Amino acid sequence: MPSIRNIALGLFAAAAVATASDVHDLKKDTFDKFVKENDLVLAEFFAPWCGHCKALAPEYEEAATALKEKNIPLAKIDCTEEADLCSEHGVEGYPTLKIFRGPEQVSPYAGPRKAQSIISYMTKQSLPAVSPIDKDTIEEFKTADKVVLIGYFAADDKKANETYEEVANKNRDNYLFGATNDASLAKEAGVEQPAIVLYKSFDEGKDTFTEAFDAEAIETFAKTASTPLVGEVGPETYAGYMSAGIPLAYIFSETPEEREALAKEFKPIAEKNKGKINFATIDASAFGQHATNLNLEVGKWPAFAIQDTAKNQKFPFKQGEKLTAKSVGKFVDDFVAGTVEPSIKSEPIPEKQEGPVTVIVAHTYKEIVMDEDKDVLVEFYAPWCGHCKALAPKYDELAALYTKSHSDKVVVAKVDATANDVPDEIQGFPTIKLFRAGKKSDPITYSGGRTVEDLAAFIKDEGTHKVDTSADGEKLEMRDETGMPEQAPAATKVAEKVKNAAEKVKEAVMDADDAEDIADGHDEL
Ligand SMILES: *[C@@H]1O[C@H](CO)[C@@H](O)[C@H](O)[C@H]1NC(C)=O
Repeated sequence: MPSIRNIALGLFAAAAVATASDVHDLKKDTFDKFVKENDLVLAEFFAPWCGHCKALAPEYEEAATALKEKNIPLAKIDCTEEADLCSEHGVEGYPTLKIFRGPEQVSPYAGPRKAQSIISYMTKQSLPAVSPIDKDTIEEFKTADKVVLIGYFAADDKKANETYEEVANKNRDNYLFGATNDASLAKEAGVEQPAIVLYKSFDEGKDTFTEAFDAEAIETFAKTASTPLVGEVGPETYAGYMSAGIPLAYIFSETPEEREALAKEFKPIAEKNKGKINFATIDASAFGQHATNLNLEVGKWPAFAIQDTAKNQKFPFKQGEKLTAKSVGKFVDDFVAGTVEPSIKSEPIPEKQEGPVTVIVAHTYKEIVMDEDKDVLVEFYAPWCGHCKALAPKYDELAALYTKSHSDKVVVAKVDATANDVPDEIQGFPTIKLFRAGKKSDPITYSGGRTVEDLAAFIKDEGTHKVDTSADGEKLEMRDETGMPEQAPAATKVAEKVKNAAEKVKEAVMDADDAEDIADGHDEL
């Protein structure tokens, strides 16, 4: 039985732990001094009500404790209390993480928001971009991270040295870089100077670069060699796969055991297509919804699909058919040969257009959007997107301005981009683009206020036909909340700017909160 005293002691200990934070709480009067006194600081600008900030808090705390030993302090700034300090640092959403090397040299923290990732990222930041390696340190360095690179070149090879430094400086967030001019170490590594060996904790363990030292070639090598033959798609790796410039093959499965088994079975296929197609498993129990983006049916696992990330085309493997090295191998071969047709997801073509806004589906996209005679404004929306719902009545009103007397020149249209494959890379919802008559290959993305007046002005100013609806006699009501008269006094303008900035922060947070899984991370950044 725990005594009252023990419970009290326990509570006391818990309270003591809770207050002994290793994260420094900075304010306007302490911030500058702090970043001046510490060579390297990671600072989090946050708001107490922000969900992502709350999720980050324990991870951040754990990282702060680990990094304290390495003299890398972590700080936080409450933007609801330190509004000036936050706006001074251009904070537009929460949380914002920035790396300070003194007050002047600031860079965004671009790593994942997990304790281990923060620790490894900040440790890398604290090292020189290229660590000097000798025979005593080389073995330890090879395993210091999942992926490390060692440059082997002669002491007088200035060009190799400079090129390598350049690549290291640019990619220091991604890999650890070391270098040695010890010829005997190069010999032990089985290379001739100059060369680079990438050591990794997976697959074949290492890869060698022996071409002429060229920054771009080295970067490509590092990217290819550091990608596991069969990796894993998740929030931390997704962006990397999307920007890799080659197609991604997904292996959907619900259990770690099955994922491992399939990864093993498909490894030879991945090996055969190395550098041409990336292969990765994806946890279908956590990210199953992402399958809809690949035109796969959610729930029928395991499943396989290839995504051409550059053309945004999807090639789902027939669901229900057994996934074997043979069946998938043939599918991949056919894909490479160009004989697999991309799958196009489309809602049915509407029998008749009901409202003023023209409804587009994938099968009518080309016919309506690419009509060379018309300026076509297209809203790409998602049914669940709150900003899109808010825009809907205004967008209807906008469309109505053109249906009577300008329908031969201007079309205002919308497409549910979650139910229809569109050729455009959509980064967030809603995205509004104007496809101008005669200039269809060069659409303009709208970034102004979401009011009828601003949108109509955009169509008039940017459209090929310069259609002006204000001359139609139907005088528009001024219901623009953000537009200020041209001659607004300076103070009002500043107030307006602050209001807009506050709204931007709110939107950024709301958008982020909308994101439920990696699929949305892609659809709504
Ligand atoms: C590269 O150049 C720097 C600066 O001159 C030098 O300190 C370093 O030792 C060189 N690296 C190698 C591996 O020779």
